Order: sequence, then structure tokens, then C-alpha cells
Amino acid sequence: MPVSDIPNRVEQVARDLKAESRDPLCAYIYDLPALRTHIARIVQALPDNCDMFYAVKANPTLPVLQTLAPLVHGFEVASGGELDWVRTHFPTIPVIFGGPGKLESELDDALARNVEVIHVESLLELRRLCTLAERRNHTQDILLRINLELDTAPSTRLTMGGLPTPFGMEEGCIDEALRILAHQARIRLRGFHFHLLSHQLDAQRHLDLIDRYLATVQRWEQEFGLTIDQINVGGGIGINYLEPSHQFDWEGFTGGLAEVLARYQHRPWRIRFECGRALTAACGYYVAEVLDIKACGEEWFAICRGGTHHFRTPAAQSHNHPFQILKTGDNQRDEPAVAKQSITLVGQLCTPKDVFARQVPIPSLSVGDLVTFEYAGAYAWNISHQQFLMHPAPQEVFIE
Ligand SMILES: Cc1ncc(COP(=O)(O)O)c(C=O)c1O
Repeated sequence: MPVSDIPNRVEQVARDLKAESRDPLCAYIYDLPALRTHIARIVQALPDNCDMFYAVKANPTLPVLQTLAPLVHGFEVASGGELDWVRTHFPTIPVIFGGPGKLESELDDALARNVEVIHVESLLELRRLCTLAERRNHTQDILLRINLELDTAPSTRLTMGGLPTPFGMEEGCIDEALRILAHQARIRLRGFHFHLLSHQLDAQRHLDLIDRYLATVQRWEQEFGLTIDQINVGGGIGINYLEPSHQFDWEGFTGGLAEVLARYQHRPWRIRFECGRALTAACGYYVAEVLDIKACGEEWFAICRGGTHHFRTPAAQSHNHPFQILKTGDNQRDEPAVAKQSITLVGQLCTPKDVFARQVPIPSLSVGDLVTFEYAGAYAWNISHQQFLMHPAPQEVFIE
């Protein structure tokens, strides 16, 4: 069983919720003080000319955004819905609007709602934006999102660039984009945006990738006679779900970043990050009470309250999600329990895909125990097929 510590305050809340709950427990618990400490540490360690935006898609719940807002430089949104949510609750925070397939109505809304920078994904999107900005008499800053061709494609489990993908435009489009921009006065090119991958766990590889972006932009500045002042290097820093005690080396990364940026210090660039998973995953816990335990052939199964309709992360990533067992000691004498076995943890759905973790060795597990999944604060509840089987939603508790 993966080892890592659940903070006492999270454990206490889980136990209190179970004590208060009429039915077996199923809940998300978010540790906001831990989130605050984590983000402050990351942001403070960034070199001076760097900004950290939060990619709202990772977890858009209001208490999470309210915790992050004073600590990050702004929010990155990727749909009209996220833009509306952020602008409704944070009327003045700097906002970046990115993402493929933006509707004209969403682009127009972005022009009306004080979006600092729009990341343009295609030549057609650029033309649409020029027309809309002209119509509104509104000047809008943009970055062009470029899918860089790399001799060695980046290797993580989730790749958005460096090979053919629908994200951004290829380098060969820059010429035409600049021609479009030269014939209008309302759209200002501030720089370039890259987000080639997610799940990056290797700090040195990420530094190499960023170095590659910066060297490329420097070349484009010369080639196209441009002066740009902003480079968005995306998000993509990962969480090590398989070995939770070996996480991305933020300290090494920010130290190395200062060295990389020193090589370009003659350039007036602001470097922007738009991270999601690496910022919020660790603050969230999904707690599922064990309803039943049974053997089938050689395999033991524990059926937990809830399922992948609440917590799709393990199914989406095809991994065994890390968890800890909070023993409760209140199972009845005739209820099953297992000791020193490998267990497969499943939910309540009528599908064999409703699995949190397969064949994980555990010291013991009883009906009534609380299985607590860690790193459930990003791409978890909000990416789940919540309506399937019409089970109720889990409780949601934010520790202040
Ligand atoms: C353009 C863009 N930026 C940022 C992110 C956030 O990525 P992550 O959560 O891996 O940091 C994503 C995620 O898909 C993205 O597509």
C-alpha cells in the first residue's frame, strides 16, 4: 500500500462526517490551509520575471479559487462557462482565455469581460477575433499557441504537442498569422503560448523543454522581426500517483529555471505558467466507506460507497490510485474483513470499469473502514460522469 500521511485534520473531519452520517460515508475533503502553504511556496520560489496562473479546469470549486486568488497572478480559463464563473466571482483578477474550439460568442464575451490575454488556437480563430475586436472597437492582447515540432517528442502519458494534435497551430502558420495581424489594428500580438504535455514528473526534462521554447521564440523574433514580451510555457507539471513519496522536484525546478532564464536575461520577457494538477491535486481527498468485502476466485474485492462517477481520476489515468485506510473498528462481528491480502477497490456502479485500485496489498480492511484516496483535488469530481446510475453526489467539505 502506498505510504504517505493524511493530515490529522483531514482524518478528524472524515471520522466526524462518518459519525454524523446516516448512510455509509462518501465525501470529498479539501485541505485549504495545506493548499495555501503549497501554492505560496511554489509562487515565492519562482524567478522575478515569472507569473503563475491557475488552470481553472483542474478544479473550479469556489473555495479552492478563493484560496488561490490572492496567491496566484491570475486564472486561465478554457471555456465560456469557466470565463463566466471566474468573472462572476472575481471581477478584476487577471484572466487568460485559452483552449480549442472557442465559439464566436465566447470570444466576443472575452472582449467584453476584460480578459487580459487570449491564446489563439488557429488562423480562423485569429480572423474571427480580428473581426469581433474591430466591431467592438476593442484592443485585445493575444498569444499564438504553437504546437512545436520536436525532434524528440516529449514523453508523458498525456501529450498535446510535439506531434500532430488538434491543439494550437503549427510553426508554418506564423507567417500567415503575422500577415493577418498586419492588416488590422485591434489585435496586439504579445507573444507565444506552448502547452505540449501534462504529467511531467521530471524537473530537468521540463527545464529542457522550456529552454527549447525560449530558444525558439528568440529565433522567431529574429526571423520575423518581432519584439515580444510574453511567453506562456503552459502547465503540465505532474503528480506521481504511483509513487506518491517521489513528487516533482519543485525546488530543483525553480532553481534550474533561474539558470535557464539567466541565458535570456537580455530579452524583456515575462514567463507565464498556467498549472492545474500540480497546484490543487494534493489538497483533495476522496473518502469512501467500505460497504462489503468478498472473494471471487483468487481475488478479494472491497465495494466502497461512491465510485468512478464521483472520482474518475483512476479510470481516466488507468492507474491504481494511492489511498490509505482509516480503521474505524466499528464493523459488526458477522461482517467480512480481510488481513494481509491484496484487494481490488471498486465502487457501486454496474460496470467492471468502476475500479479505484487493483490488487493492492493491504495489512487489513473491514466493512465500515474509510478508504481515503489522496491527490484527489484535481481532475477528480469535475471530470466524473456524475449522473450515471443517479447515485447522490458525495458530500463536499472544505477545511478552512
Ligand atoms: C492549454 C492548457 N494549459 C494548461 C493546462 C493545465 O495542465 P496541468 O493541469 O497538467 O498543469 C491544460 C490541461 O489540459 C491545457 O490544456
